[in-house]
Formats: sequence, structure tokens, C-alpha cells
Amino acid sequence: MRIIKAKDYDEFSKKAASILAAQIALKPDCVLGLATGSTPIGTYDQLVERYERGEIDFSQVTTVNLDEYRGLGKENDQSYYYFMNKYLFDRVNIDKQRTHLPDGMAPDSEKESERYEKLIEEIGGVDIQVCGIGNNGHIGFCEPSSIFEKVTLCVDLAEATIEANKRFFESADDVPRQAYTMGVGTIMKGKKIMLLAYGEGKADILAKAFLGDITPEVPASILQLHPDVILVGDEAALSKFPDS
Ligand code: PGA
Repeated sequence: MRIIKAKDYDEFSKKAASILAAQIALKPDCVLGLATGSTPIGTYDQLVERYERGEIDFSQVTTVNLDEYRGLGKENDQSYYYFMNKYLFDRVNIDKQRTHLPDGMAPDSEKESERYEKLIEEIGGVDIQVCGIGNNGHIGFCEPSSIFEKVTLCVDLAEATIEANKRFFESADDVPRQAYTMGVGTIMKGKKIMLLAYGEGKADILAKAFLGDITPEVPASILQLHPDVILVGDEAALSKFPDS
């Protein structure tokens, strides 16, 4: 695993964006696996700035997102579809036909999960997968569990996740109780994985995930087995790592 340490959010976002920009430069028709949440917003802003400076061409890029709330439509400003358009897709020259998320309004959750898993295979898999990490160690919405989920599925959100995400909603009651997520196995198939962790609130779980046991109780810990992980963190998030 490569660890990249940044001193503040601006540097953190620039470093993460540089890695994605390099991936697009090396393979203009690459598949980016993308994430939502507060952590990557600065990264997307940096990508937009580079696009505006003429440094990145998104015209041949394909994207697949990690997850989506079940029950939220595309027009809902808390859906991840809405988030991705707002922070990235509406601001660059990406072909929207090549941007993919699970459909939060699909009537049959099993069929929708199968469709999404198959779609990822059909587009040739993910070249680089961006992930955040939840306070409980989740990646995507793969919550702590007794097993590592292999493929895309519809999950019940953990109480810790509802609690963490209620800041984006009017109240905890408004947070959807279910979501679609790539499985841990789907995420692990990404050729390269870039995990983003910012702030001291992530320090303990990051240490547990990367320095502790590999266990489905800490889903991110599976990344210890992936051959090509880049962990981008700020000094606070990385403060529990030995060389920090
Ligand atoms: P955050 O979420 O970026 O808002 O901290 C990360 C996650 O839950 O995966």
C-alpha cells in the first residue's frame, strides 16, 4: 500500500485529483469508480479546475458509483445521482450516458443489484476505485457484518451510518434505511483503489482497518489484501500510523 499524506484539505484534494487526472491521461477511456460523501468534494472541485484549464478531457471516461440510497429519485437533492451531477458531471465534458449509479427507484432490488453488477463487468471493470471510509469501517455502504459481501446488493444501513449521515438531512428520520452498494468483492475487483480519509474523526477506524485484523466487522480491512491501494489522508487521519 502507498500512503500519501497531506497537510490540509486543499493539499489532500489536490493529491487525490492528481491521481485521477493521471489515470485519465494514461487511459482516456478509463473506468473511474467514484464515491460520494463530504470527503471527495474537494477532489471533484480540483478535477473541475483542471478541466477548465484544459488539462483533463472527460469525453471518453466512463464512471460507476459505489452506492445509492434506495427510495431516493434522481431529482432528490440527497440522492447520489444528484450529488455526482452537482459536484462533477454537470461541470465537465463527460458523456452522461457513460455515468452510472444504481437506480434508487428501481422496483425490484434484487434485479437492480444484478443489473448493476453485470453492468460493471460489461464495461470492463474499474480502473481506479475511489472509496471513503465510514466511522464504522464501511466502504461503499458495505456495513460491518459477519461476511464480506461479494456482489452488488441492497443493504440495511447501520445505525452508525444513519447517525453519521443525518447531517445531510433534516432529521435522522429522513435518512433512507436502505441503499444499494457494490459488494466488498466488487470493490476488490477494481484494478487500483484510492481510499480517501480526512480529519481526526477517521484516525481510529483507519488504523483499525489497515493495522488491525482483516474482518468483515471492519469491511475496509479487506483492502489489506488488495495489491494496489493508495491511501490518501491528511496528518490527522493518519496520526495513528507508526511513521506519523
Ligand atoms: P464522508 O463519508 O466522506 O462523508 O466522511 C465517508 C463514508 O461514509 O464512506
